[in-house]
Amino acid sequence: MNTRPDTPSTSTVAAGGQLGGLAVTSRPLEAYRDMFLLTDEELVAGPILDCPGGAASFGAELRALGGTAVSVDPGYAADRAELLARARADLDRVVAWHRARPDNFNWGYLVSPNAVDAFFRRGLEEFAADFALDGRRYVAASLPDLPFDDGHFRLAVSGFLLFVYPEVFDLDEHHRCLVELARVTDGEVRVFPVHDTSGTAFPALDELRAALADSGVESELRATGCSYVSSGEDRMFVCRRGRTGRGS
Ligand SMILES: C[S@@+](CC[C@H](N)C(=O)[O-])C[C@H]1O[C@@H](n2cnc3c(N)ncnc32)[C@H](O)[C@@H]1O
Repeated sequence: MNTRPDTPSTSTVAAGGQLGGLAVTSRPLEAYRDMFLLTDEELVAGPILDCPGGAASFGAELRALGGTAVSVDPGYAADRAELLARARADLDRVVAWHRARPDNFNWGYLVSPNAVDAFFRRGLEEFAADFALDGRRYVAASLPDLPFDDGHFRLAVSGFLLFVYPEVFDLDEHHRCLVELARVTDGEVRVFPVHDTSGTAFPALDELRAALADSGVESELRATGCSYVSSGEDRMFVCRRGRTGRGS
């Protein structure tokens, strides 16, 4: 099935039908499979970092499959009821944004605003049933500082934060966040999407990749065939500590 994006923290869409701000969203595992090209084998091959975890049910669903996930998000520092209320309000805002800006989205993937609502709501309710700030499955922390040892995770996934809100993270902050994600990950760091809320690709991808290479982090862009936006942008940013050089 299909899904869709995010936004800020009021229940109405901003002027001009824009999203309005950073949202706490709740994609299910199925959406993670699509955007990060996750295979059955990768899902259970070792611990996976989901940062930002938001109100996604990825971790809960992965554990049900026998995998291991740690979800990290600064939102987990909030009181549980407050976090869930915020996620529910943000879901209303995201769906309203889809209704207000149908031209912005790829309905071939998302199907309809009602389908987005139902899909994200399922993720949110599964998250709510599983969530407890136990410092093990769910950790309150913020990029670019993660409380894990080097190479702790086999794989890291980062959905709908980096590249999506260039007003929140500039080029230097993207670099710091990706170096940190690569530090705590033994294998690949996969980031999706590489576009902002209007579907425009991050304009400094080449500069960012050059800066990462200087820091010993290899990177590439990989087509996924999964696009939320009418621009068709479907690439995933993949990076990892270099096998030689400073990042190794
Ligand atoms: C749009 S949600 C994405 C959630 C989930 N990955 C998904 O795809 O549904 C963005 C999340 O980023 C979190 N966030 C904001 N700043 C962050 C930071 N510096 N480090 C990690 N997460 C952050 C927010 O709290 C929010 O839950």
